[in-house]
Amino acid sequence: MNTFGRLFRVSVWGESHGPAIGALIDGCPAGLPLSLSDFEEDLRRRRPGEAGTTARRENDALTIDSGLFEGRTTGAPMLIRIANSDVRSGDYSAIARVPRPGHADLPAFHRFGGCEDFRGGGHFSGRLTAALTAAGTVARKVLLTLPVPVRCAARLVSAGGESDPARFEARIQRAADEGNPVGGVLEGTISGLEAGLGEPFFDALDGLLAHALFSIPGVKGVEFGLGFDFARLSGREVKDELVSADGTLRHNFSGGIDGGLSSGNDVIFRAAVKPAVSFGTLKSVDLTTGKPAEITPGGRHDACFARRLPPVIEAVSAMVVLDQLRLAGRVGPVLRPQTDRPGLP
Ligand SMILES: Cc1cc2nc3c(=O)[nH]c(=O)nc-3n(C[C@H](O)[C@H](O)[C@H](O)COP(=O)(O)O)c2cc1C
Repeated sequence: MNTFGRLFRVSVWGESHGPAIGALIDGCPAGLPLSLSDFEEDLRRRRPGEAGTTARRENDALTIDSGLFEGRTTGAPMLIRIANSDVRSGDYSAIARVPRPGHADLPAFHRFGGCEDFRGGGHFSGRLTAALTAAGTVARKVLLTLPVPVRCAARLVSAGGESDPARFEARIQRAADEGNPVGGVLEGTISGLEAGLGEPFFDALDGLLAHALFSIPGVKGVEFGLGFDFARLSGREVKDELVSADGTLRHNFSGGIDGGLSSGNDVIFRAAVKPAVSFGTLKSVDLTTGKPAEITPGGRHDACFARRLPPVIEAVSAMVVLDQLRLAGRVGPVLRPQTDRPGLP
């Protein structure tokens, strides 16, 4: 479905070339001071604009249609709407017959019987990550009100195989110049988490984070701590040491999660993001004839869309953590009562 979470629940809606996209948040604690300006910085960081990002200009005009009263969240469902602008659907008309390999075009055609909005990837578009980002702004703001604030941060740690940040710009510029997009790796860090958050089996904290991270279009791999390196290292090399009863480890090889529960150390993970594939001429099949066909998408694309994803990674991390804190009773339904309201004790 299009909903994630149990007590802090986020649904995403909308299509790339429809009138708007957005998020519906249910279970946001009441009493959080919130204004439209709170969303600006996160949305700006996700927007295209830097070298190698798409030419589509999105001004992300955001409104909140419910769940907010006199500058504070009410605890009722919050509907966030972000208008779509700079939409050029003509670019995508060929997709109706000839799906783009590497996109959801063909799977969505079969899943929804041809009723899906295919323009610009429709509901599967990276555009929907603006809605995730906005939901994350709310979640992150709640996490910062806690006695020990929980912070979710993410950064690009490699681009097109280049892992020296000083060379990212040049690598991405080369990708743009050569018309050959690149992927990247993002590292996420969640700090301030006490030990014991998560569930032992199917709702393991790493499982939930991976679930949320794989909901971001283009994320193809996720690892925690040493991740895939665990497979080639020996036991001696990865034996950690507990240094205090709160769970602090000397090395934190596991990336802050042991047995599916937070260990009291920073949660550290990496997400691998693929390059854009919708450029040039793509070999495909004409759905009306079943014969081989080519498609030249012609839409606008990023030379490295991974560079736009730090706020999206932070957003889904915050959604997962806040949901778990709500379930553990660490964050209640009201952050701070409205003390000047007549009738309240
Ligand atoms: C912000 C953002 C921008 C994206 N831009 C492009 C793009 O320009 N071209 C492209 O081929 N894929 C782009 N993608 C990735 C596709 O949306 C994604 O690969 C596709 O929907 C298939 O999903 P999957 O890769 O997760 O399987 C973008 C993703 C995001 C999050």
